[in-house]
Amino acid sequence: MKTVIEPFKIKTVEPLKFTTRARREEILAAAGWNLFAVPAEEVLIDLLTDSGTAAMSSRQWAGILDGDEAYAGARSFYRFEKTVRELTGYRHVIPTHQGRAAERILFSILGGPGKIIPNNSHFDTTRANIEVSGAAAVDLPTAEGLDPALVQDFKGNMNLAGLERLLKREGRERVPLVLMTVTNNACAGQPVALGNLRRVAELCRSYGIPFFLDACRFAENAWFIKTREPGCRGRSPREIAREMFALADGCTMSGKKDGLVNIGGFLALNDESLAQQARNLLIVTEGFPTYGGLAGRDLEAFAQGLEEVLEEDYLRYRIRSIAYVVERLDELGIPVYRPAGGHAVYLDARAFLPHIPPQEYPGQALACALYLEGGIRSCEIGSVMFGKHDPDTGAFRPAPLEQVRLAVPRRVYTQSHMDYVIETIAAVFARRREIGGLRIVSEPPLLRHFTARFEPL
Ligand code: F0G
Repeated sequence: MKTVIEPFKIKTVEPLKFTTRARREEILAAAGWNLFAVPAEEVLIDLLTDSGTAAMSSRQWAGILDGDEAYAGARSFYRFEKTVRELTGYRHVIPTHQGRAAERILFSILGGPGKIIPNNSHFDTTRANIEVSGAAAVDLPTAEGLDPALVQDFKGNMNLAGLERLLKREGRERVPLVLMTVTNNACAGQPVALGNLRRVAELCRSYGIPFFLDACRFAENAWFIKTREPGCRGRSPREIAREMFALADGCTMSGKKDGLVNIGGFLALNDESLAQQARNLLIVTEGFPTYGGLAGRDLEAFAQGLEEVLEEDYLRYRIRSIAYVVERLDELGIPVYRPAGGHAVYLDARAFLPHIPPQEYPGQALACALYLEGGIRSCEIGSVMFGKHDPDTGAFRPAPLEQVRLAVPRRVYTQSHMDYVIETIAAVFARRREIGGLRIVSEPPLLRHFTARFEPL
């Protein structure tokens, strides 16, 4: 088989800035050992997130010029609405400035004190928006999903037995909706099977509970279904995506991932009364229903991105480019979550740095070491992001996994950039015993990973 190449050529370039190790040491100390506080210009390869970091196509840029900026009823909105309706099948399409705005609107209506909202795994902002409404966010990943070394096809699935127990115990009075994140970002970007989505949809229907997708990475998930789920090989990614959406009653979407845009999101759903309430909230903080939190030009680029992201050449390259890195790292004996997920490489920091206990944040320590070694920025998804102190006893409760996520922006880096990333990780692995843990010096009450400051122990 020949190399799967980038299915595009480069039209505009942006220079990278090289820094010395001494300079990076200064920068990291000034940033309080938090990579979110490092200026992007001081980063060589930025794998902090795949969100809002995509390179747009020439057609998307053409759409930027072509955007209709009318306050109400802009042509760009109607194109966007038609694209989302054809993709999802949902009747009501409500544009928002990004995914979390759609989440906030949905959970302000359906959440609230005493409510419980389950998900295969909530990502950070989803969890925060649920908790801010007063509701509880419950994760129901499978046991396989929590095993970084086990190779299986759909480790992002919902734990069906766990969901059934929860629904039986709490009923529709306390569970206002069930969510499912595709792909499962908190669980190494692992995909969810159509079969699992079907079972969740059936369970929700039998309890009369609405079922929503957190659909940020729906196209990557559809590709995994196409290539792994029996009977799906001959189907197009669009057809598979359409079936995923059809199983649910609505979705929240961050266009900053599989919308291939730098800003944008939406809430889409079928229920008339819920849509009306959502539009009322939208007007208060986002904007008029035909633009939400976006400019006409953003809607134009977003609609175009939703078409391009389902192209088979793109998805084949996208998924292969992540697997390529995971396979090289695995060959080098480096503990990496397997199999490769859709948008990122997840290092298993617990196995990488076994001498650092969870309360000394091995993931954060590893992410900082990668920056010092090669100017690579990654993101801890472990006990900094999801660890907690018990409110009663004060005891430390670690996150289920200590991961470092190297999220790959869409259509931005080439294979040689990724070879450099592999070399840097290998160099850090070779001297892993010299890396020490960290302690938190200051932290905010919510979403602490964004702004906490650390100190080496
Ligand atoms: N849901 C999931 C699964 C996400 O990964 C994100 C964002 C959101 C919702 C919120 O969307 O950023 O447009 O408001 N995740 C980014 C990340 C930030 O780095 O994984 P948003």
